[in-house]
Amino acid sequence: MIDIQRSPSSKLENTNFDNLLFGKVFTDHMMECDYIDGEWQKPVIKPYGPLSLDPSARVFHYGQAVFEGMKAYKDKDDRIWLFRPDENFKRINRSGKRMAIPEFPKEYFFEGLEELLKLDKDWIKKGFGNSLYIRPFVIATEAGVSASAANEYKFMIICSPAQAYYSGEVRVKFSEKFSRAADGGVGFAKAAGNYGAQFYPTDLANEEGFQQIIWTDANTHEYLEEAGTMNIFFRIGDKLVTAPISDRILDGVTRKSVITLAEEYNIDLEVRRVSVQEIVEAAEKGELKEMFGSGTATVINPIVGFGHKGKKFDLPKLEDSYAKFFKDKLMKIQYNEAEDKFGWRYEVK
Ligand code: COI
Repeated sequence: MIDIQRSPSSKLENTNFDNLLFGKVFTDHMMECDYIDGEWQKPVIKPYGPLSLDPSARVFHYGQAVFEGMKAYKDKDDRIWLFRPDENFKRINRSGKRMAIPEFPKEYFFEGLEELLKLDKDWIKKGFGNSLYIRPFVIATEAGVSASAANEYKFMIICSPAQAYYSGEVRVKFSEKFSRAADGGVGFAKAAGNYGAQFYPTDLANEEGFQQIIWTDANTHEYLEEAGTMNIFFRIGDKLVTAPISDRILDGVTRKSVITLAEEYNIDLEVRRVSVQEIVEAAEKGELKEMFGSGTATVINPIVGFGHKGKKFDLPKLEDSYAKFFKDKLMKIQYNEAEDKFGWRYEVK
């Protein structure tokens, strides 16, 4: 059993759920579990608050850190659901392995997560679009700046009530110069540094009017890979295409759910390399009907246009978009409003 220390007070009453900025407000509790002497110790749930770490802890110097993104949903009957949580559990350990972080036990992950959600259940609001964003992460806490894997770690889960991730329209730039990931690197992992390294090029893209970058392969910049916070789908005519996962691309849970749903609903989808040239040509010929991103935080996010080599392209505004179709199908499963044919829902009780 997990040790639970309850918070003496709650921030709930002072939280405005109608005006949430993504990832700004956190619930009353957090889960913490330390790895010491070669073992993960018993997890604890305690009031949400700051950590005290040695300034020489490896995470600050070498970025030895991985994370996950998940969501909890509340249905009309106040039941709480997770979406394919096993995928996140497996992925945090895949990411961890690449970053030399010891494997986290499954029973601690699920027991800690479920106890935490039950304790903070009033933070999960009902209604399509409302959810609780769950952020599990691991950091290297061992003191000392020698450049080697730490012997001590902290696994934590924190939670933040969420609505939309992007507040406005999303326009993307195809990367021509900067790269996110290289062959043999850590692109497939949710390693903290993969995200931090995107901030500078993304700021430059913002100045040109793009909200996100679509990363291209580091060698040639000729193939479209992922957006960093989302995997990417392109609709040419009525065919959807998306890049295959590799050691450079995150194996997104929403991405693979879209691929399964496409099969289920007979939507023509190809998983293959997608070249910049074919997308630019399709846009020029008016055959590029849609682009959208998929991810836990953003669900399915339509992209209204893209930029490449100084040219800007707008995408048509479709009434019957695939983006809308998949978003609706996914959310109905997530909020327990549709049959769960694939066994993706997981009830917290
Ligand atoms: C998620 O969708 O959970 C992500 O990891 C994106 C995040 C960096 C906000």
